[in-house]
Amino acid sequence: MQTAIQVGQPLEERVGSQRKIVVANWKSNSPDLTQWTSFPPFSQAEVVICPPLSLLKLVSDTVPNIILGAQDAGSFGDLPVKYVIIGHSDRRKEGQSDELIAEKIQKSLAVGQKAILCVGEPRETRDLGLESAKSFVAGQIQKDLGAVSADLYTNLLIAYEPIWAISTNPGAEADTPENAAEMLKFIKGILPELSRARFIYGGSVTPENAPRFLGKSEIEGALVGKASLNPEEFKKIIQIADGSN
Ligand code: PGA
Repeated sequence: MQTAIQVGQPLEERVGSQRKIVVANWKSNSPDLTQWTSFPPFSQAEVVICPPLSLLKLVSDTVPNIILGAQDAGSFGDLPVKYVIIGHSDRRKEGQSDELIAEKIQKSLAVGQKAILCVGEPRETRDLGLESAKSFVAGQIQKDLGAVSADLYTNLLIAYEPIWAISTNPGAEADTPENAAEMLKFIKGILPELSRARFIYGGSVTPENAPRFLGKSEIEGALVGKASLNPEEFKKIIQIADGSN
């Protein structure tokens, strides 16, 4: 059971597992930013927006109360990019190898960014059962984290995103919160250093299903694609993570 967050308790006094994180992955979409200029602060949830590279500066300048993230590793000049998504299935589909992903993770963590490593199995693997999916994901974790120094795991997040659950794929539907929680718990046990990382779920998260995912102690946050493009939908998901809904 999760410890209740004390109202008024300063953020820095809370341990990581009590604070949920909601990460928007805008992919190549450019939402109308005039709808985002009065984005409200949230006291409990950590809110990250990962816009397309071309919009990083504009989002940084115009959307208040959010933490800036990027959709792949890179150097971002003066922009305050704190989080980077690495190994998203879209990048893997484009040909990014586990070797390259491992390198990106190590480099990003070494320069002080927080890395969100996406792992997840294709539909044909999941059709063979959750145990097959676990073996697939364990392989990704071992290859992608092989180069990471033990002291950098506190800045690592693992996003379990089964490929078949991502809304842009035909017939996509969210995984069950129970399976997602079981998978994240399994991943956490793969390497001892992972006890210091954070664990989130992605794949067709909506305001409707978010309470069931975020209500699980194993699921410390959500990576949200489609539902993050609409500020009202996105706010609803954050309110659930924030406990202010
Ligand atoms: P989705 O995307 O929420 O639209 O399924 C998630 C992602 O691809 O990160």
